Amino acid sequence: MKTLVTYSSLTGNTKKVAEAVASAIPGSELHPIDQSPDPSGYDLILAGFWVDRGEADRKTKEFLGKLQGKAVGFFFTLGAYPDSAHADDVARVTGELIERGQNEPMGSFRCQGKVDPALLGRMKKSLPPDHPHARMTEERKARLTEAAKHPNDKDLEGARAFALEAFERAGGGGR
Ligand SMILES: Cc1cc2nc3c(=O)[nH]c(=O)nc-3n(C[C@H](O)[C@H](O)[C@H](O)COP(=O)(O)O)c2cc1C
Repeated sequence: MKTLVTYSSLTGNTKKVAEAVASAIPGSELHPIDQSPDPSGYDLILAGFWVDRGEADRKTKEFLGKLQGKAVGFFFTLGAYPDSAHADDVARVTGELIERGQNEPMGSFRCQGKVDPALLGRMKKSLPPDHPHARMTEERKARLTEAAKHPNDKDLEGARAFALEAFERAGGGGR
């Protein structure tokens, strides 16, 4: 079974997770989304992305929106907690996009990823002072401090487990 693992990553978090995903699937190919081969030649596609304003980043949305009739799983990293309603929304909207192309969903994985300090600086400068992303509340500070520790080894282990499960679900591993 031919497996393509592709990813979009600005600051390296999603790339790290993508490497773990690919390492779990024998013979899989790993490509950044900009250099992804034509996905029509693959049986299983696992696409990873960073969350940009509540959704998959633009490149990944374009990529997923073109897939038709494939076995497709996805994974993402985000600043918010993985068990938050925000993360659930990202997964739901992405799942809907995949299903629109009559693709077969192969599950998903998510974990936190450190947020680029340059972005935090820009938000502080450009947003009105009462905007939630301009203020540093205790809750936000705790969330960003936690995000800064990810992806960690446990996340990468979870990513490998997701990959194996998707591979087996898609009919890999001789079953
Ligand atoms: C422009 C921008 C927008 C972002 N929007 C969100 C968001 O809506 N929700 C969230 O939880 N994290 C958001 N993040 C945080 C990133 O998704 C997170 O840090 C991710 O792990 C980055 O992955 P990468 O290192 O692969 O680029 C945003 C980051 C940037 C730079």
